[in-house]
Amino acid sequence: MRKNIVAGNWKMNKSLEEGKTLISEIMNTQNSSDCQIIIIPPFIHLSVANEITCNSNIAIGAQDCSANQSGAYTGEVSAQMIKSAGCQYVIVGHSERRAMHNESNNLLNIKVNQALENKLTPIYCCGETLEEREANRHFEVVKQQIQEGLFTLTEEQIKNSVIAYEPVWAIGTGKTASADQAQEIHNYIRTIIADKYGNSVAQEISILYGGSVKPQNAQEIFAKEDVDGGLIGGASLKAEDFIAITKGF
Ligand code: 13P
Repeated sequence: MRKNIVAGNWKMNKSLEEGKTLISEIMNTQNSSDCQIIIIPPFIHLSVANEITCNSNIAIGAQDCSANQSGAYTGEVSAQMIKSAGCQYVIVGHSERRAMHNESNNLLNIKVNQALENKLTPIYCCGETLEEREANRHFEVVKQQIQEGLFTLTEEQIKNSVIAYEPVWAIGTGKTASADQAQEIHNYIRTIIADKYGNSVAQEISILYGGSVKPQNAQEIFAKEDVDGGLIGGASLKAEDFIAITKGF
């Protein structure tokens, strides 16, 4: 059956020294929990994060990858480089990149393919803005993000992908989707995948919830049938909170 996952997206936080300390604290506090823990620090920390965690069950991921393979793309980091640093995962299509870097579903589809070709598991993010939710367009928006971002993949490839539903209005705002709201969309996402790839494929894909997850609400959200864990921002920056969230299953 599908994996439970708790992934900590540090975004643009922590110096290298602070990052090393946080990873060590997480390693020292965590004891084998019921989920795959993934730490997703800034690019510059990836190598050392992989060295620190190499003999543990913690995996490391990157926050983005280039849509290009290699070459004259100043400032970009390729999926191949991320793999060569020891990573297993990469976030693709976080709403902050969609909004601030104009990343379209079509571009993200190329990035997802780059990730998979380099044997990285993409964590493909989707989710509606507040305006879209208020206009009752959240199902339609998420469907289009999933269709355009992922539906060129083969069955094998989609089985090797993770989806994160992150409503933009819940990110960093302290406003969480209710557990029922999360379940409603997660179930909808699984249904769309089942329609395209069949139910047994859909049942194998981990769908994570992201947006103001904290130790106080993780358990209620993770208890929902179609919620297979979380993509955590702010609360992943404190070892104690992050570990408490990993115990929310
Ligand atoms: P917060 O947990 O800070 O709301 O961020 C969620 C997120 O964007 C994770 O990718």
